[in-house]
Amino acid sequence: MKRTIMCGQLNSKNIGETVVIQGWVAKTRDLGGVIFIDVRDREGIVQAVANENLDKDSFKVAESLAREYVVQITGEVKPRSSETINKNIPTGEIEVIATNVVLLNKAETPPFEIEADIDTNEQVRLKYRYLDLRRPDMQKNIIMRHKIAKIARDYFDENGFLEIETPMLTKSTPEGARDYLVPSRVNPGHFYALPQSPQLYKQLLMLSGMDRYFQIVRCFRDEDLRADRQPEFTQMDLEMSFVDQDDVISINEGLIARVMKEVAGVEVKTPFVRMPYNVAMQKYGSDKPDTRFGMELVDTSDVFLGSGFKTFSDIVSKVGSSARAICVKGGVDKLSRRDLDALTDFVKIYGAKGMAWINVCEDELKSPIAKFLTKQETDALLSKTEAEVGDTILFVADKNKVVFDSLGALRCELATRLNLIDKSLYNFLWVVDFPLLEYDDTEKRYTAKHHPFTAPNDSDISLMETNPGEVRAKAYDIILNGNELGGGSLRIYNTELQEKMFKLLGFTTDEAWARFGFLMEAFKYGTPPHGGMAYGLDRFAMILAGADSIRDVIAFPKVQTASEVMSNAPNVVDIKQLEELHIKVVE
Ligand code: AMO
Ligand code: AMP
Repeated sequence: MKRTIMCGQLNSKNIGETVVIQGWVAKTRDLGGVIFIDVRDREGIVQAVANENLDKDSFKVAESLAREYVVQITGEVKPRSSETINKNIPTGEIEVIATNVVLLNKAETPPFEIEADIDTNEQVRLKYRYLDLRRPDMQKNIIMRHKIAKIARDYFDENGFLEIETPMLTKSTPEGARDYLVPSRVNPGHFYALPQSPQLYKQLLMLSGMDRYFQIVRCFRDEDLRADRQPEFTQMDLEMSFVDQDDVISINEGLIARVMKEVAGVEVKTPFVRMPYNVAMQKYGSDKPDTRFGMELVDTSDVFLGSGFKTFSDIVSKVGSSARAICVKGGVDKLSRRDLDALTDFVKIYGAKGMAWINVCEDELKSPIAKFLTKQETDALLSKTEAEVGDTILFVADKNKVVFDSLGALRCELATRLNLIDKSLYNFLWVVDFPLLEYDDTEKRYTAKHHPFTAPNDSDISLMETNPGEVRAKAYDIILNGNELGGGSLRIYNTELQEKMFKLLGFTTDEAWARFGFLMEAFKYGTPPHGGMAYGLDRFAMILAGADSIRDVIAFPKVQTASEVMSNAPNVVDIKQLEELHIKVVE
C-alpha cells in the first residue's frame, strides 16, 4: 500500500481515517505492551502507537525499531486523550493507532541528533550533510528557498520575462573577481572561465530582441569566503529592454513585496527609500546601510581643524581626510574602559589608527583628548553630535575611506553589542547614484565600480573627461537590513560611449576588443536601451530564514577553504586526466 498522507499533515480533521505514513523513526518509547513511535518526514512528526493486544506482528516490528529506521505504518487516526495532547506540535492532538508496521530499512546511529537547534560542530554537520538536511530547521530553510525561487519564476513569467539558459563554459566576464578556469582538452592551453554572472549573455539577449530575460543561475567567483559569500552561489538574474532605472526598480519592488508577503507574511511598503551613495556613506559609512537603528556618523572635521589636538588637526587639514564621530546614547554606563579598548582594537581591523572617545558625565568630560580642546571646541562637538549627559562620543580621524569603513563597521558592532536592533524589521532601501569609477591607488588608474558596461548619469557624461571620479552611474543596489541583496544598472548601449568608458578604464582599443570584442561587435547591430539586475538568492533566503550564514540555506555548501567536506572536493585527479588536458602540476 502506498503512502496516503505526510506525517506532518495529519491533524484532528483526519480522525477516523485509516492512513498509511512513511518516514524515519525520530524516537520510540516502550511503555510495556504499548510502544509509541514518533515518525518524521519532511512535513513534521506524528505519533504512532503499536499495541501488543491489537496486532502482535506489528508490535514485534515496533520493538525492533531504533532511531532513523525507515518505516511504513498503517493505522487509524484517533484523538489523543486530553492529558496526552501536545500543544507544541501541529499533530499533537492525534495519534495513529498502528495496525501494520513495516520496517523498510535499518539505519546506523547517526553522528548527531536529527533535531532542530543542535549545537554540533558545523564541520561534522557538513561531513554528514545528508543527515543535517534531514533536521527540521534545515528542511524549513530549503523549502523556504524553493518558495522564493518559485515566486520569482511565477512573477517574472507573469511580467513577460523569458527564462533563458546561458553557457557555463564561457569566456571571462567582467565582475572582477578571480575566475574558476576549466581546461579545454581539445584546445591545448586554452581555458574556459565559469561565469561570474551571465552579464554579457543577458545583454546580448536584449540585442536579440528577447525583450525581457530571467534566469535562476549558478555563478562562480574565486573570492575569499565570508558568511555571505560562497565560491558558487545562485543569482536571480534579469535584464529588460527599453527601460529606465525607475522601470527596473519598480518591477523589482513588486517581486520583493510578493516574496515578503508569501514567504515571510510581511507587508512591505513600496516604493522603497532611494538613498544616494554619498548620503549612505556620510550617514552610515557604508554603501549597504542598516537603517534599523540610528547612531549616524557626524562630520566633526571643522571642530578639530586648527585645534590643540594635533593628531586630528593634522589629519583633517589634508584633502580627502576627516574626523567623524558616532554618539552612543547612554554609553557612559554601557561601555566600560575595557569595552572602549576592545572597540579601539575593533576599528583597527579597518585600518583606523585609534579611536578617541569622550564620556559626557554630569560635571565634566572624561576623555583622553578633552585636555587638548577648548571649552568652545568641546561644546561644538557635543552640539554637533547631539550628545547629552550619559552619552559617549567615539571618533576616528583618517583618510575618508578608513573613517567610513571603521565607523560604519563600529556602528553595526555597537548595535549588536548593545542590542539596538529590532529583529522584526525588514528595512529595504535602494542605494542609487553610485560613482561610475573608483580610483585604484596601487594600479594608479580608474576601475569600474560596478562593471564596464554600466551607464553614466546623462548629466555627468561631460565630467568623464574633466573629473572622472565625480561621474555618477545609473547603478542601484537593493539593501535589506544592512545586506546587499542585489544590484544592477542601466547599460551603455552606444558604441562611442562604451569606447570612452574603456579608455577611462585604461584599456587600449585593442585590449578592449580582445576582451569584449564580441559584445562590441554585436552592439553595432541595433542595441535597444536596456538594464537589469541580479539578486543573491542565497542571501535573500538567509535573511528570511534568520540564518547567520548562507551555508544554512544551501544544500551542499563549501567551507572556508573552498572545499566541500562531504565529498572532499577539490581533490587530486589521475595523472592520465591531467595529461589529456595538457596540464602539469608544479608543486
Ligand atoms: P553583483 O556582482 O553585484 O552583480 O552580484 C549580484 C548579487 O549577487 C550576490 N553575490 C553573492 N552571493 C554569494 N556569494 C558570492 N560570492 C556573491 N557575489 C555576489 C549579491 C550581489 O548583490 N551582473 C551583475 C548584475 C547586473 O548588473 O545585472 C552582478 O553580478 O547578493
Ligand atoms: P594620542 O594623542 O596619539 O595619544 O591619542 C589620543 C587618543 O586619540 C587615543 O585615544 C587614541 O586612540 C586616539 N587616536 C589617535 N589617533 C587617532 C585617529 N587617527 N583616529 C581616532 N583616534 C585616534
